Amino acid sequence: MNSQALTRRIARLTTNVVVRWPRLWFLLRPLTRFQFDRLAPQWDAIRASETAYAPYEAALERVDPPPKRTLDLGTGTGGAALAVARRFPEAEVVGADIAQRMIEQARANLTDDLSGRVRFEVADASNLPYGDGSFDLVGLSNMIPFFDELDRVLAPGGFLIAAFSGGAETPIYVPPERLRAELERRGFTDFAEFSTDPGTALLARKRARA
Ligand SMILES: C[S@@+](CC[C@H](N)C(=O)[O-])C[C@H]1O[C@@H](n2cnc3c(N)ncnc32)[C@H](O)[C@@H]1O
Repeated sequence: MNSQALTRRIARLTTNVVVRWPRLWFLLRPLTRFQFDRLAPQWDAIRASETAYAPYEAALERVDPPPKRTLDLGTGTGGAALAVARRFPEAEVVGADIAQRMIEQARANLTDDLSGRVRFEVADASNLPYGDGSFDLVGLSNMIPFFDELDRVLAPGGFLIAAFSGGAETPIYVPPERLRAELERRGFTDFAEFSTDPGTALLARKRARA
């Protein structure tokens, strides 16, 4: 097995373990961070395909009302965060990632016209440095979901997007049934699924306060 195939296998295994047993993340975090720091200089080239963010953008089109405070988690070099900023010109956008080198590259990709309302920060999705209900939209593009934290940082009525560029072939992939089950348990509603071949995405909404 070559090193790229091994990296993809490790990413899938890590995703499956963490979705099932989030508390084991602390064991897998050092290797995950190391792998993505190592991949950061090539990440934009790896993600250069025109369809890379297609499922994420398909879901963004259905987000209404337009969000004001948004978070792209596991942002990598920031492609999805920039898509959010372009789609919603009034929105503040935070892109967060555990890998420092990804964040450095994301900052380098930030253009002057967006720099006033987009920022990139190192943060761990399992323990986010943001208050309860801080965001109206949280997006994940090829990223492991930490459901309790997603629920906590989303405001009531806020939107969640989980997108996978290569559908079920994406190394970091969670099937829609699993996403829905975890989110329904936490009171999310209004599910919508998107397919952009090969990409897939799920959009959900956190229940508004009664
Ligand atoms: C497969 S890459 C996707 C990057 C980007 N969203 C994209 O679609 O191109 C996954 C990213 O999630 C980050 N990541 C993994 N676990 C994380 C965590 N617990 N908290 C924050 N970032 C994490 C990795 O460092 C990596 O940059």
